[in-house]
Amino acid sequence: MDAPPRFLMTDPSAFDVSYRINPWMDPGAWTADCAAAATAASGELRAALQGLGARVETIEAVRGLPDLVFPANAAVVLDGRVLLARFRHPERQGEETVFRAVFARLKARGVVSELVDLPEGVLQEGAGDAIWDAGRGWFWAGFGPRSNRASLGVIRKTFGQEVVGLELVSERFYHLDTCFCPLSGGQVLYHPDAFTPAALAEIRARLAPGDRIEATAEEAAAFCVNAVNLGETLVMARAPESLRGKLQAHGYSLVEVDLAPFIRSGGAAYCMTLRLDRTSAARPAILAAE
Ligand code: ARG
Repeated sequence: MDAPPRFLMTDPSAFDVSYRINPWMDPGAWTADCAAAATAASGELRAALQGLGARVETIEAVRGLPDLVFPANAAVVLDGRVLLARFRHPERQGEETVFRAVFARLKARGVVSELVDLPEGVLQEGAGDAIWDAGRGWFWAGFGPRSNRASLGVIRKTFGQEVVGLELVSERFYHLDTCFCPLSGGQVLYHPDAFTPAALAEIRARLAPGDRIEATAEEAAAFCVNAVNLGETLVMARAPESLRGKLQAHGYSLVEVDLAPFIRSGGAAYCMTLRLDRTSAARPAILAAE
């Protein structure tokens, strides 16, 4: 039997919206009720992943670092190698040392094998902007609003894998994981308005028409593209009916969790987690058989 998928999550007890580094964030609208709802929502997401057979490692909250609940931004992880993130905004830079210590502990336990630092001046916000496409065997890497273009070459060199750069144009979809999600059957769910014309051309050149599932502005604003895909199941925030139908037509089923408190910060299921066990060797049978 395959080893269970393994994810990192963060205890949400220090989560809030107390600054604004993306247009979804409104510190004035954050209340104690939001905090209570966040605790429940994070627990539901963890339970949903565990219900699908995943193992979840939960790290402690740190006061003053509310966005630590988005570990997808902590690093890019493949084949046990961890490329540690560097954040664009000072509000999140304090997370870097916390996550470094977390990964050092995971390394001591043998969960990951190697930590790698970005060169000076390179900004890269982890798996939020570098998504491994297991079926195709390359990274799709977002840049522009957060990670910079220089990060593409660093990812390529660090992991020895092809990197397809996709420039993001929208303030609302500032990390690639908000607007782009490769699925196990080879399709990609993506929101076209988030990309430059060059990036869109790249997506369309690399994906057969039948593999392109476009998410509408409404579906992307519901943070449903920010989904965790395990086999034929997608774990995501509450989905508009339109999206449910589209994904079911391709054979996927949805597990929906009310992640409203996290959407107030501009994140949802995918970025509340970080997959730790991805390997470049694993290709889903459906594609490997082609
Ligand atoms: N408030 C966080 C930020 O703006 C949300 C990050 C969500 N992460 C993601 N990979 N989409 O940085």
